[in-house]
Amino acid sequence: MNKVRAAITGVQGWVPDYALTNAELETMVETTDEWITSRTGIKERRILKGKDQGTSVIGINAVNGLLKKTGTAPEEIDLIICATTTPDMAFPATANIIADAIGAKNAWGYDLQAACSGFLYGLTTGAQFIETGKHNKVIVIGADKMSSIINYEDRTTCIIFGDGGGAVLLEPTLDDNGIMDTILHSDGAGAQFLHMKAGGSRRPATMETIAAKEHYVHQEGSAVFKFAVTNMAEVSARIMENNNLAAEDISWLVPHQANKRIIDATANRMGIGSEKVMLNIHKYGNTTSGTIPLCLWDYESQLKKGDNLILASFGGGFTWGSVYLKWAYDPK
Ligand code: UT7
Repeated sequence: MNKVRAAITGVQGWVPDYALTNAELETMVETTDEWITSRTGIKERRILKGKDQGTSVIGINAVNGLLKKTGTAPEEIDLIICATTTPDMAFPATANIIADAIGAKNAWGYDLQAACSGFLYGLTTGAQFIETGKHNKVIVIGADKMSSIINYEDRTTCIIFGDGGGAVLLEPTLDDNGIMDTILHSDGAGAQFLHMKAGGSRRPATMETIAAKEHYVHQEGSAVFKFAVTNMAEVSARIMENNNLAAEDISWLVPHQANKRIIDATANRMGIGSEKVMLNIHKYGNTTSGTIPLCLWDYESQLKKGDNLILASFGGGFTWGSVYLKWAYDPK
């Protein structure tokens, strides 16, 4: 009998309306459209404005769209995993807030924090609940409101990040498709290069931590860049080797959208051309947990049943990994 696998049976993204352009950033910090475009590939990023608007807003909109397009009732959902680095609150979990808002009364849920690799961690763990037979409908969300932890006076970070995310529905399949293999890694030694100093239990918020601007992303960009280029390319090449996949077998690379130069290096190492690389960094910037589901959503109409996809990420932690999946449905 065929093995039960978890297949993505629908994807939906959501981004806020407000676009923060490179031109607007030029008025805020000492930078240029030319610098941002040539160093990162980003032209604009979306910002979630308004009082008391958290990451759950992104998740709720994405999941409501997903339920509608897949014809799924909220009561059918068994589990909601929300990968995010910017939860609405320290607790309760944003997954619970989303479940309540969408009426997923029979679901349990939890948040998962793995920075830019959060969606791949969520996909991997969500798939296990399907493969064991424990659950039939699992929703994995990757969403972040990065603008809530960005210092808009720091030109090295404010040009990169944006708000947005997406959600996928995982269901069991006996066909030869779905999630075929995953490789995940983490290395806490990388924390020194990419972190937020205060706001956790080690340094709770005080007047001093706020004055010292410790509630913002701290990134040593060029150090992170070197680790990202090496590790995202290596893990993507390794998952191909492990599954006997040649470059011509790959239909799409779905890379975390942190920097176009990191994406290009990964594609080069895999030996695949730019026409097979999903790219939307120019529109949304780096939405952390949101980038990969946003790519799948943008390119969904071009995906065919049986397409071989390699998903790849690198981010804070450090965390990195790769997922090999066979797309499970034709354009609807
Ligand atoms: O998704 C999570 C993981 N994160 C990543 O993967 C991000 C990895 N890192 C990067 O993408 C890149 O390192 C950055 C885009 C953050 C920076 O690009 P870079 O080519 O590594 O630049 P750099 O940090 O080496 O800085 C080069 C120069 C510096 O000036 P000096 O010291 O050479 O005079 C910076 O001060 O560029 C300057 N610079 C800027 N200039 C104009 C830094 N940010 C800006 C800016 N506009 N926004």
